[in-house]
Amino acid sequence: MNTVALNTDQAPPISVPLRFFTAAPLFLILAALILVSAADNPFAAARTPVLLAATHCITLGFMAVIMMGAMQQILPVVIGSPMPASGITVWLTFLPLLSGALLLPAGFVLGQPVLLNLAWPLLLLAFLVFIVASLASLARAPARNATRTAILLSIFALGGALGSGVLLAHSYATGAALADAGQLLTTHVTLMLGGWMMLLIVGVSYQVVPMFQLTPTYPKWLTATLAPAIFGVSLLSMLPLLFQFDAHRLTVATQTLFWILAGSFALVTLGLQRRRRRKVADATLSFFGLGMMALLCAALLAIATPWLPTIEHLETLTVMIFLLGFAMSVMHGMLYKIVPFLVWFHLFRGGMNVGVPNMKEIMPEPRMWRHLWLHRGTLAVALFAPWWHAAAWLLALGLLVQGVLLGYALLGAIAVYRHTLAAIREN
Ligand code: HEM
Repeated sequence: MNTVALNTDQAPPISVPLRFFTAAPLFLILAALILVSAADNPFAAARTPVLLAATHCITLGFMAVIMMGAMQQILPVVIGSPMPASGITVWLTFLPLLSGALLLPAGFVLGQPVLLNLAWPLLLLAFLVFIVASLASLARAPARNATRTAILLSIFALGGALGSGVLLAHSYATGAALADAGQLLTTHVTLMLGGWMMLLIVGVSYQVVPMFQLTPTYPKWLTATLAPAIFGVSLLSMLPLLFQFDAHRLTVATQTLFWILAGSFALVTLGLQRRRRRKVADATLSFFGLGMMALLCAALLAIATPWLPTIEHLETLTVMIFLLGFAMSVMHGMLYKIVPFLVWFHLFRGGMNVGVPNMKEIMPEPRMWRHLWLHRGTLAVALFAPWWHAAAWLLALGLLVQGVLLGYALLGAIAVYRHTLAAIREN
């Protein structure tokens, strides 16, 4: 599959994606503080209020905020179709998302139903505006390629995940009984992680890996089949919820299929990276490679789990490796690549031909390497966190310092942008 030509003339103002990206690191710090507030090991039991709160600081406050910010850039520039009414759409997404992402964890950790009942309507508004605007943009998009298909399917998956999440939150807040809470939770997690997050990363990778990492393009056999297959498997996993039947075998089968597909994406991407044209070390490439290795580990562990019934916490560990090892590594790598590019591009587009700082001046690479090593250390201790409270503390400390490092790097890039712009205006 060939990469598309970028529609840079349709790029939104730099403040649009950057407001999302700069808000995200705060939630890593918040997740860390919530984890250390627990009296016992927060990873030792699933679905405790502290774990639900920390999980949503990371998934909703950090990852969803970055993904929704990135989409404000990807749809106009990569897909060639801006979001409708982008000025109002961005505020109707950003503000309720941020307040909902603060209120939901607060509602879980403080056990305050009133906060949960404030959170889910705000999140419903933010996600619905985002979904409708994204679908309108995709419907009008001139491009017809595998990236567009993967993004479209990821939005459909998000719709289902949102519905189940809101139902769960409402039931959590009011105590209202749900027909099948367990299956609804499985649907929520499967469609949020395996649907929205996985499909969006796959679709965007088809463009950014060859473009930024100078690898060959993804093979046609993969781009034509992977996203529809992942989406199909996610839908299959919803059948027990829709038709109320015992699903153990189907769940094991669909989850195994999903992980085989995810694992193949990781293997193909690692193979492409090895064939890249420029062999110099690059922190953003290493973040991406680490993400693919983690996805492969999560896939192998998830496929093995049903055969290891005596070992506890393997499902929690799989979700941790998927979220912290795969998704977070890829998002760090993308941010460290895309933000300096955005600053450089908007200064250049702003008519400044001389004295435009290069990307290494906008975001110095030694800081990225330091963050990469800290992240590797955080992942290493995360492997022991479900069994060892001290490791859970070290994981929290790792997330806290990562939030500070990433926030500092992003604010540094904004400072370079502002100073350079001020210099232009003075001249
Ligand atoms: C509209 C926003 C969301 C709402 C209202 C929401 C609501 C919920 C609720 C109420 C639960 C707990 C259910 C229970 O234990 O009874 C839950 C669990 C979970 N949610 Fe969300 N969620 C949202 C967004 C997300 C996002 C964006 C992700 C990931 C990308 C996510 C991932 C998870 C995971 C992994 C769990 C299981 C946690 C565990 O088992 O400890 N959620 N969600």
